[in-house]
Amino acid sequence: MSNIIDGKVVSAYIKDNVAKEVSALKEKGIETCLAVILVGSDPASQIYVANKKKACEALGIVSKEFVLPETTTEEELLSLIEKLNNDKSVNGILCQLPLPRGLDERVVINAISPLKDVDAFHPSNVGKIMIGDYDFAPCTPAGIMEMLDYYNISVEGKNCVVIGRSNIVGKPMSLLLLHKNGTVTTCHSRTKELKEVCSKADILVAAVGKANFVTADMVKEGAVVIDVGMNRSEGKLCGDVDFQAVKDKASFITPVPGGVGPMTIAVLMKNTLTAAKKQNLGI
Ligand code: GUN
Repeated sequence: MSNIIDGKVVSAYIKDNVAKEVSALKEKGIETCLAVILVGSDPASQIYVANKKKACEALGIVSKEFVLPETTTEEELLSLIEKLNNDKSVNGILCQLPLPRGLDERVVINAISPLKDVDAFHPSNVGKIMIGDYDFAPCTPAGIMEMLDYYNISVEGKNCVVIGRSNIVGKPMSLLLLHKNGTVTTCHSRTKELKEVCSKADILVAAVGKANFVTADMVKEGAVVIDVGMNRSEGKLCGDVDFQAVKDKASFITPVPGGVGPMTIAVLMKNTLTAAKKQNLGI
């Protein structure tokens, strides 16, 4: 029987610390502010954006929301981003992805000032992560590192296997584990002998997007299993890991829901605070 890594507990701990620092900044006359842009009316994105706004409000962070119609042109979106880049009262800018068809994600991400890029998606921040000299890391992988840290799970020298190579999760996850001296393998849809590779992992991170993709025979006895999946199966939210079967083999495991999910917003709040400190105090 494994230990459950409780994302609600760890995210509450992080948010609590952020709220204290936000309040200390306020006493110095400094407000912390996150601007969130939502283009179109994707229902999942609407929920994510509403949750981000709620988290800001709970922590004393000013939240500015910009909801633009599906028909927004690239020029209009870039003009809003430019305005927010130049607005000294805005510390962080997040443009919710995916964007409606016709808008180029890369162009939009490149337009956000790297100093306000709390998603850490801008090529300049991606490059900084690559060389290990960064202020922000993408929220999901950074949240996973926070969880490992909270539970005193050391990465040093461990075999770490990341399934998934997206720019948002898989690639930065591999880099963050590497910076902590893990021996990292990044797997993907073309990986051969996936089961063999995974079954050697001391730390296994699944970011695949397929329900029950990671089965017990892919997991080493005593492994730490991190499930990034958010899949709908028969109306229920479930991860990429066959939790019921894997939980008896793993030493630690994240549930879905209540695992990695709550961490993402907590790190977004932390990144926004970091941006505010850097912009106002240079630290
Ligand atoms: N859509 C899904 N996850 C994310 C995220 O972390 N940041 C942004 N901007 N959009 C997303």
